[in-house]
Amino acid sequence: MKKAPTLFLCTRCEAQYPAWQGRCTECQAWGTIVQSQIADRAVRTKKPIAKPVSLAEVRGHDRPYRPTGVAEFDRVLSGGLVDGSLTLVGGNPGIGKSTLVLQVAAGVAKRGTVLYVSGEESKEQLKLRADRLKLTKSDIKILSETDVQVIRETILQMQPALSIIDSVQTVTVADQPGETGGPTQLKAATVQLLSVAKQSNVPIILVGHVTKEGVVAGPKMVEHLVDTVLYLEGDETQSLRLLRSVKHRFGVTDEVGVLSMTEEGLSEVTNPSSLFLLPERIPSSGTAITVVLEGTRPFLVEVQALVTSTHFGYSRRLASGIELARLELLLAVLIKRSGMKLGNQDVHVNLVGGLKVREPAIDLAVALAVASGFLDRALEPKTVLFGEVGLGGEIRPIPRAEQRLHEAVNQGFTKAFVANDVKKQKSIKVVRVHSVAQAIEEALIRTSSTKNR
Ligand code: TYD
Ligand code: MG
Repeated sequence: MKKAPTLFLCTRCEAQYPAWQGRCTECQAWGTIVQSQIADRAVRTKKPIAKPVSLAEVRGHDRPYRPTGVAEFDRVLSGGLVDGSLTLVGGNPGIGKSTLVLQVAAGVAKRGTVLYVSGEESKEQLKLRADRLKLTKSDIKILSETDVQVIRETILQMQPALSIIDSVQTVTVADQPGETGGPTQLKAATVQLLSVAKQSNVPIILVGHVTKEGVVAGPKMVEHLVDTVLYLEGDETQSLRLLRSVKHRFGVTDEVGVLSMTEEGLSEVTNPSSLFLLPERIPSSGTAITVVLEGTRPFLVEVQALVTSTHFGYSRRLASGIELARLELLLAVLIKRSGMKLGNQDVHVNLVGGLKVREPAIDLAVALAVASGFLDRALEPKTVLFGEVGLGGEIRPIPRAEQRLHEAVNQGFTKAFVANDVKKQKSIKVVRVHSVAQAIEEALIRTSSTKNR
């Protein structure tokens, strides 16, 4: 038998070393390097041959989705939690993860006991939150525990309808090295809880904080181990929260849950477009409305641009909701292809409502909002625009134009500027545009006060 190579590992950051040393040169911690036990496993002994089965004989997953009653949560899970599944709910601290999982717990508690294991907060803190959410009567059992073995035995013995671990970074695994919340402990805890879920058939939800580089390891590190990964995102200063799935073994991942943080917890937003648009709008320069898609859901979003002369030094460009690099590219296109003198202008672009948009379909609206702000000419009222802007100033078709138009009609819009070749529509006038210059010419209103720049 080949001798196992000796390997030394930092228990804090998992850096590997061929020899022991007092300080980890990766994370600068002292006394965290130990001889690895993992290396021993690498030694190959002769193993028996496994028996593969024919793919045709394998049955698909026939375990039912069990709705939790929190509609947006169920939506991203393709219908609900599957028995024996391990779901990770990640997000920044303070974004509302505990609130969400407590609401899910209350929903499931209507049909069975829910075990809420909290290593983060005391029972009293949980009670305060439950009072705020008006969930006091629910059959939710609280356990303040961090030892994975105790959690394991409790779940196996209690067989709850759902178990929640808030958070997985507080769980400790006694026979593993490393500090609680560190990579080694986090992975070991997740593996243990995965085996509990599979053994007991109890669905388990793990809460995980997204962290900046530092002591505690983040949920990304265990994404590959769990069945489903959801992230709760949003701007803490705004009420909007998006629940996205980035991995789902039992369904599709292109659904997005839209929630709003209120005084009484997270509430479902059934008409997302209404969140971002004011019901009564006065046409003003520097704004443009577009339809973006999050997963399969269309949202109407207002892009605002403020363009002012630079008074000192370099021009400032600020973008919130879209990437700064994208804004700079669109400004370059406006300068080069539409002859707009934006070189000595400060440009600020903002998406109303705190949404972050990555899809290029928003390009045309950003370009037109800036052009509108610069020329001080408003867009025609009740108008939406969407299209990707190319470097030549051309506008490219974007996916699912019909669906976006449909949403615009639902929200009472009557005119759309698009690059796609779409069918003639009854309730909305569709204007095909091929270049940014043409869109500026056709979509902006000429007024007597218009400055002729
Ligand atoms: P929390 O769920 O504790 O966040 P996380 O578990 O992700 O760290 O809640 C975060 C914030 O939400 C907290 O600052 C208070 C606020 N909040 C509300 O606005 N309304 C509510 O009903 C609740 C329970 C919390
Ligand atoms: Mg929390």
